[in-house]
Amino acid sequence: MKNKKKIVIANWKMNPETIGEAVKIFNATKMAVKDLKNTKVVICPPFVYLSDLEKLLSPKEEKQLAFGAQDMFWEKSGSYTGEISSPMLKGEKYVILGHSERRELGETNEIVAKKAFSAIKAGLSPILCFGEKERDSHGEYLHFLRQQIVESLNKVNKKLLPKVIIAYEPIWAIGKGAERALRATEVHEITLYIRKVLSEIYGQEIVVTIPILYGGSVNYQNAKDIILNGMVQGLLVGRESLKIEKFSELLKNVD
Ligand code: PGA
Repeated sequence: MKNKKKIVIANWKMNPETIGEAVKIFNATKMAVKDLKNTKVVICPPFVYLSDLEKLLSPKEEKQLAFGAQDMFWEKSGSYTGEISSPMLKGEKYVILGHSERRELGETNEIVAKKAFSAIKAGLSPILCFGEKERDSHGEYLHFLRQQIVESLNKVNKKLLPKVIIAYEPIWAIGKGAERALRATEVHEITLYIRKVLSEIYGQEIVVTIPILYGGSVNYQNAKDIILNGMVQGLLVGRESLKIEKFSELLKNVD
């Protein structure tokens, strides 16, 4: 894993409001990515911007920059108003699944499991998000996390596992109202726990090859510390990925 590139996912969520702004942010990100040696960036814009933005990426640039979707449905087509399927995401390599903001709207582990299976079968790498709402002193949150992981991965067998990317995102550290980002040592602890849970299912050998990312109030100031001392293979960045200068700085620091 040492020689592998770090992964930074830019989760734009429901931003920006216009394609014009989206192009501006994308072009700036493209410039920032040019000089990176050890980092790969995956931009996840709203669905409606994907095909326009893809046209702005040359095949040469695809090594460092890729696109991902923020969600997808598990069926390929049919009467599912408002949903997007894997064949519709043909140009993409990644898809975020089970983000806490979607879980908040009713997405269950069972739904995430179906989506993860369907995404892998379609050749996509699912970025599976896990994270507790709050922490307690009895370690209940660890049980909660274990259950999320076990249930969300229950259709992914050992053969399919190498496609998976794990994103640990404690809900209390995400978004504007967040208390704070996790400290690097806390990130490290939790990744060890996640690897232990995964190893129990799949065996240690394969699990060491699965990237674990951290997300939640990552910014240009804390990114380097989280990568170095949190021992994660990358970051999932929300707000800071829309701020052109700060995101460039963040990428430099990660690299
Ligand atoms: P944030 O969001 O970086 O704005 O906290 C992270 C996420 O929700 O993925």
